[in-house]
Amino acid sequence: MVTAVAQRLASQRKEIDDTLATFALSPTQLQEVKAKMRVELERGLKKDTHPTASVKMLPTYVYRTPDGTERGKYLALDLGGTNFRVLVVKIRTGMRNSVRMYNKIYAIPLEIMQGTGEELFDHIVQCISDFLDYMGMKNTRLPLGFTFSFPCNQTGIDKGDLVSWTKGFKATDCEGYDVVDMLREAIKRRNEFDLDIVAIVNDTVGTMMTCAYEDPKCQIGLIAGTGSNVCYMEEMKNIELVEGDEGQMCVNTEWGGFGENDNIEDIRTRYDREVDGGSLNPGKQRFEKMTSGMYLGEIVRQILIDLTKRGLLFRGRITERLKTKGIFETKFLSQIERYSSHLCLGLDSTCDDSIIVKEVCGAVSRRAAQLCGAGMAAVVDKIRENRGLDHLEITVGVDGTLYKLHPHFSTILKDTVRELAPNCKVDFILSEDGSGKGAALITAVIDKYLYAMRF
Ligand code: GLC
Repeated sequence: MVTAVAQRLASQRKEIDDTLATFALSPTQLQEVKAKMRVELERGLKKDTHPTASVKMLPTYVYRTPDGTERGKYLALDLGGTNFRVLVVKIRTGMRNSVRMYNKIYAIPLEIMQGTGEELFDHIVQCISDFLDYMGMKNTRLPLGFTFSFPCNQTGIDKGDLVSWTKGFKATDCEGYDVVDMLREAIKRRNEFDLDIVAIVNDTVGTMMTCAYEDPKCQIGLIAGTGSNVCYMEEMKNIELVEGDEGQMCVNTEWGGFGENDNIEDIRTRYDREVDGGSLNPGKQRFEKMTSGMYLGEIVRQILIDLTKRGLLFRGRITERLKTKGIFETKFLSQIERYSSHLCLGLDSTCDDSIIVKEVCGAVSRRAAQLCGAGMAAVVDKIRENRGLDHLEITVGVDGTLYKLHPHFSTILKDTVRELAPNCKVDFILSEDGSGKGAALITAVIDKYLYAMRF
């Protein structure tokens, strides 16, 4: 009798272990991810392979990081997460760390995120109007930097056609159109105030710029939050989509799209495919769906449902809450891994169940951190080779809830980079509000440049 129970428990344990083993990546597999990422970085940069590349390597028209002499008062907008923010940013010259910000956060209702483009931009302009009233600034026409955290085909610092929505957005009639134009038109429609839109900025770029303001060695920006993405300073001569060979330009890699050409199918699991299939953009952003906060909880949920169906968890009973999409937020995943024990999922859970849930969360977030680490290793090694160096010292500016809140994500990411790029010493610094401050800093860098051009 005892043996029969023990045998059943052992076989159940094996089934769980086998399931989680599909999320474990060997050093060889991680090396392969790094190598494939490197191939895609190159393909995105080259004119003939760019159209079919899964990593788009978008030019940003940001040629330099701040040198600390920037100054002025700017407006900044930040769209890309769950909220929309409007900020006024004051940068004083002479000393670093002298940035003051005032901001207001506005919710973007789901029906607006997924409504028409006109509704979305009208909503944005309504929020700006409210902010300007609140600050008593309706009549001051400040230069504006727009952090828009989606892939854009830029042909200048203030021109960007939206390639495709990612994360939770899906407003109609926006893809293929210039985001700055759409904002200008919405401002015209409202006919209440005017704005001088100077720059459109990806959040990775804002993050890099904010950190570079503190540390000139910072030439990479990483977001590990709702989405996953990286930008870095690339040599102009390697960016075939842009004329000119001198100097550098920041490239927004949009590495979230990695895998769209089926080249990482060997490491995707059936749970990844389920999450992808149920998403707003099936087949797209496959790397992002394995590495970012918006999707990790969904992967965990899919595994828990499967283990429950197989009678390995929650006494085989799937509750309504477990059936609810989006129930596991990144915050929650982090809490489970930090404190383990009791789940408030309304799941009929025993102590053993709690341990299994924690193991599932650990397997999914560990793989996410390792994949980001492998991608980052490809980026730093590329920069090292670009510069013909045996050894590179570089800093990455980072933002995002997954990196900041998760108890192990950052450690595993750093360990992976160290293992896969042994010739690079990579430091990571946290950005404080890269999306807001960064947009203002870029605007300030341009302002300074335009001012210098006048003399
Ligand atoms: C998504 C967007 C990308 C952004 C990232 C982080 O991947 O496509 O532009 O940088 O999320 O917010």
